[in-house]
Amino acid sequence: MRTNVNPTAEHPRARTGTGAGPGRDRRPSVTDRLAASVADLTIFGRRVRDILGDLRRRPVPTHWTNLFGVVTLACLVVLTVTGLWLMFFYTPSGDPTTYDGGYAPLHGAEVSKAFASTMRITFDIPGGLLMRQAHHWAALLLPASIIMQLLTTFFTGGFRRPRRGTWVLLFLIFVAALAGGWSGYALPDDMLSGTGLRITEGVALGIPVVGTWVASLLFGGPFPGEIIARLYPLHVLIAPVTLFGLIALRGLVAWRVGPAQFPGRGRTPSNVVGVPLLPTAAARAGGLLLIVTGVLLVVSATVTINPIWLYGPASPGDAGAGSQPDWYTGFLDGALRLVPPGWEFVLFDRTWTLAILVPLAVVTAFFVVVAVYPFVEEWSTGDHRDHHLLERPRDAATRTGIGVAGIVFYGTLWAAGSADLIATQFSVTIEGVIATLQVLLLAGPVIGFAVARRVCLGLQRRDRDVLSHGFETGRIVRLPGGEYVEVHRQVGEDQRARMTRPEPRLVLVLRPDDRGRLTLARRLKVRLSRWYLADTIDSDTGERIMPAPIPSGRSAPTGGASLRPTMRP
Ligand code: HEM
Repeated sequence: MRTNVNPTAEHPRARTGTGAGPGRDRRPSVTDRLAASVADLTIFGRRVRDILGDLRRRPVPTHWTNLFGVVTLACLVVLTVTGLWLMFFYTPSGDPTTYDGGYAPLHGAEVSKAFASTMRITFDIPGGLLMRQAHHWAALLLPASIIMQLLTTFFTGGFRRPRRGTWVLLFLIFVAALAGGWSGYALPDDMLSGTGLRITEGVALGIPVVGTWVASLLFGGPFPGEIIARLYPLHVLIAPVTLFGLIALRGLVAWRVGPAQFPGRGRTPSNVVGVPLLPTAAARAGGLLLIVTGVLLVVSATVTINPIWLYGPASPGDAGAGSQPDWYTGFLDGALRLVPPGWEFVLFDRTWTLAILVPLAVVTAFFVVVAVYPFVEEWSTGDHRDHHLLERPRDAATRTGIGVAGIVFYGTLWAAGSADLIATQFSVTIEGVIATLQVLLLAGPVIGFAVARRVCLGLQRRDRDVLSHGFETGRIVRLPGGEYVEVHRQVGEDQRARMTRPEPRLVLVLRPDDRGRLTLARRLKVRLSRWYLADTIDSDTGERIMPAPIPSGRSAPTGGASLRPTMRP
């Protein structure tokens, strides 16, 4: 049940709500009296009481998009508990040893101590396989839940001021999770992780000028060098500490700015409608956390993941057919696979391997665009206002189109990571799959953008019709004058509040600066703003937003603001 709770007086978006009903009078128990005296008499008690009071007054909006944060937390709990357990039995060393553990087919094989210890965890230590699999399944779910958070935040505009920082932090959390997964994937030192490391070495060596140094810094000698010993601290210390640090920082920033909420009846930019953080939201989150943990354990107990005994130990000269990275690094592999053959040239006595440089540049550029998108959107739309109400994806058609283009781009790279499997499963040529994906990588985002944007604009028009005429009921009645009309059912108050865009759009009008100049940057900004808003329906007037035309040449100075936000029907 949704309740309006009374946020603290200091809360910037405080408002008076209905609050919880009065509790029944009852005689305080001994523990109640003891707790009250501890809370009253000690500094620590008073501090804890204040914090608990804050948490009880803190409203949390209820929406399914909030669930992904809890899934992320559940994964981290499982990763930490199982990871700490694994540390007791795992040996981070590439030194050779002879395998003589519980898996007979590998008896007598020369393997690394890392591989031997992972095999020991799997076959000889009670519960070891479950722990390994729980660790691995949680590592697979973690990036998925973070990506879902990124997507829901993106498509609802939850990254706009004052939450640009939380977006960047969420993106960094994603990168840290990728680093954690990649470094853990290499630790068992099996054939699959060895293949992955070989690709990493190749990419490092392909970087011009500094490549050899980067590879030797990472591997500490000829492949495989000391990579296991070097990745271990990165995996068990640096990546988890960075992850937890970033999550704590994001939580702190989110606490300070407060939650954003979807529009609805009674919801305004200056209030927060939801359930109290303590105990309601916390109990719900705790329940979901337990459910996710339970599901992870059930899956880990029943579904095999990373069967290193089938892959065998890493061998620098071998790679298994159909090798696949964990799903979250598949896009990096795919970027390498999509480069046409022979992309390299010699300059200044060095070979410049475009087959590595181009994928590196493309993936880096994609990541940079994702990280800075809130700033780009704010600059190009000139909308520097704070937004506490989220938008439905259809109401920001261009942003939704950009998001879909990004998904198609990422998805194509990801599919390319499995190009060989697609070819064998569907009995088609690998060249055909690669060529199709190359075309899709270039044309797919453009088509995805255009289709998604058009669909959003169509939905906006449908909403406008529904808001102004109501829903069609299919009931035709004949009027006394003989005229036939269809009866329309008017939209209810709740639904109207949800369907109406909460804040008006800003349309930039180009005005010359004090010296009468219309600079290139200003022109670009206004053009971008017009492109962003073109054909959008203004939910107040129900009309298309028509940005003012951009004047050409120099104009007389105005002495006023150079970019004027305005609404035009
Ligand atoms: C406190 C945090 C962590 C500790 C102490 C830890 C520890 C370990 C250890 C000792 C191993 C080697 C044992 C083995 O491979 O079976 C391992 C493997 C692995 N770790 Fe972690 N880890 C932590 C966090 C993470 C995180 C955050 C991720 C991913 C985001 C992750 C992903 C992996 C993966 C994919 C493996 C390979 C598992 C396998 O053998 O199939 N770990 N971890």
